[in-house]
Amino acid sequence: MNHSAGRVLAFDSGIGGLGVVRALRDTLPSDTHIDYLADNALFPYGEQDDARLIARIIALLDAQIARLQPDVVLIACNTASTIALDPLRARFGTPFVGCVPPVRWAARVSRSRVFGVLATRGTARRPYLRALQEAYASDCEMIVHGARALADLAERAFLGQRIEDAAILDELAHLFSAPSGERIDTVGLGCTHYTFLAEAFARLSPPDVAWLDPALPVAQQVRRVLEDRPPAKRAMRAEEMCLTAPPPDREALDRAVNRLGYERVAILDGAVSAS
Ligand code: DGL
Repeated sequence: MNHSAGRVLAFDSGIGGLGVVRALRDTLPSDTHIDYLADNALFPYGEQDDARLIARIIALLDAQIARLQPDVVLIACNTASTIALDPLRARFGTPFVGCVPPVRWAARVSRSRVFGVLATRGTARRPYLRALQEAYASDCEMIVHGARALADLAERAFLGQRIEDAAILDELAHLFSAPSGERIDTVGLGCTHYTFLAEAFARLSPPDVAWLDPALPVAQQVRRVLEDRPPAKRAMRAEEMCLTAPPPDREALDRAVNRLGYERVAILDGAVSAS
């Protein structure tokens, strides 16, 4: 039977994009079909070389867009979006929605005019982030911390493991103990993984700091794109949650993704070599 519900392909290096999927489930019509692709073979993206990452993302999406036929591709990863959105848009006819650090939003809400951005080391060093500041926050001081450990901690938190407060505090100190850090009143999450640490960030940071998580605004942007582009009629099939390598704890991951509507994870068969 033919069906015309919208089809989204959400992509990340790991579980980070599932925070955006959660927001999509609340935002999109309930029959929207959301496939998820995690390139965990190359996790963490924040520690990879830029050229290697672009080639990898294009090769992987080339195969998966052809196979899954999405109406819109959501790059639910700041580290991928800040380097690969332009080449992806140039190459594929499918619309792309990206996730980038919420610099514009932070500049709108910060009263002290000093805000923080927490991101991966890849995103933190990219000219893309500086360009966002120049365009939208040139009257603000932007304190950026490129964190090595947080995406790993978020992967563990997603599986229900307990994360030591000390590990989070070590990373937050790079913002709040930096010069002018005591004036930070707003912090933008510049990595989708950090959604799953948001409770700890709020609890362990100075009181009254506003934490900005772009998951919901990004989901709303996906909805607008789908509304502007009526989905093609296609045969219905089950939603897929695919990985590029076996996860460390498959049972725990199956249980965790169940809560987001996926039956189980599948491992892509030789999609792209991890080298
Ligand atoms: N979820 C990804 C992001 O938003 C990054 C995690 C990684 O380093 O792989 O940047």
